[in-house]
Amino acid sequence: MIEQFSDRTNMASNYQIVNQLDTKENFNEIHAFALHVLVGLSESKKSLSSKYFYNARGSELFRKISFLKEYYLTNSEIEILQSKVAEIEETMEDREFNLVELGAGFGRKTKFLVDHMLSSGLKFRYVPIDISEGSMDELVTELGKTNPELEVCGLVSDYYNGLKWLNNRYKSRNFVMFLGSSIGNFTHGESRVFLRNLWNSLNNGDKVLIGFDLKKDIELLLSAYNDSEGVTAQFNLNLLLRINEELGGEFDLNKFRYFSTYDLFAGGIKSYLVSLEKQEVYIEKIGRSFSFEPWEPIHTEYSYKYLVPDIERLASETGFLVEKHLFDSKRYFVDSIWKVYKPGNLLTE
Ligand code: AVI
Repeated sequence: MIEQFSDRTNMASNYQIVNQLDTKENFNEIHAFALHVLVGLSESKKSLSSKYFYNARGSELFRKISFLKEYYLTNSEIEILQSKVAEIEETMEDREFNLVELGAGFGRKTKFLVDHMLSSGLKFRYVPIDISEGSMDELVTELGKTNPELEVCGLVSDYYNGLKWLNNRYKSRNFVMFLGSSIGNFTHGESRVFLRNLWNSLNNGDKVLIGFDLKKDIELLLSAYNDSEGVTAQFNLNLLLRINEELGGEFDLNKFRYFSTYDLFAGGIKSYLVSLEKQEVYIEKIGRSFSFEPWEPIHTEYSYKYLVPDIERLASETGFLVEKHLFDSKRYFVDSIWKVYKPGNLLTE
């Protein structure tokens, strides 16, 4: 509910964090997590969603992954944002706008962009939207130190309620960034639903910039998800640790191992946690045990990879016009810029 937003902080006059999550919401989140685990571990093909990877420890492990030499995605996208910044700025069309970042995390990629836009004299308000209060605090505090003149409105919220709140509050044009190939963690059906909901929350003429990881040599893909330091394994195993901590689970992490593979037909990396022996695991808050056969997998994550025609189809099927594709020098990754197209609403353009 939009009305639940509360203005919590006013750090400098230009800085605010608006928090939509209250304790009741938190209570419902634990319930949703328990239900998700119950359903996912009761299926004949067990699965848990990677959306539950990101508690504080999971976010920190992902930050570590983004610095690994094998995990080329982050550096490829940073290269695009730095080398193509002028092309990104051209699409802003010289109007005041909200620079919205969905799932901003620690905002490592956007800091450069924000600095450049400020020095180019663009007029914008930076609006990171993230469900994690901790990373929002860190990001907003950091920006407050480095860019005190910037107007920042951090929304601790899910994406759609955050965008609704923003549109009710400020009538500016929106430029929404969804970086890092986060869209790759959705199935193809989920990504269509996500993009159509995003389209619904935006106005005609608003722009989005979405990061897609491209299909490439399978060996490169496999090593990005099988790093030599084992951080990706810990990142996946953290899900079991989270069940132990939040739901009173009794998982022994030494009895599971991480495994990932590239599914050629699906066009994506699929990750799993595999039970190393026959075992029963009790989860207190669910009030029952789950049995695992030796070598039985739990599917944990999809990381889909794209071709440019797939991206263009996705845009047109969900109501967007493709403006440009920005590639890194190795063509590993693309940041694609799209415009919201609502033909019934041309007066607002
Ligand atoms: C956040 N997301 C795009 C990452 C990915 O590449 O799928 C998460 C990740 N999983 C393993 N390594 C990184």
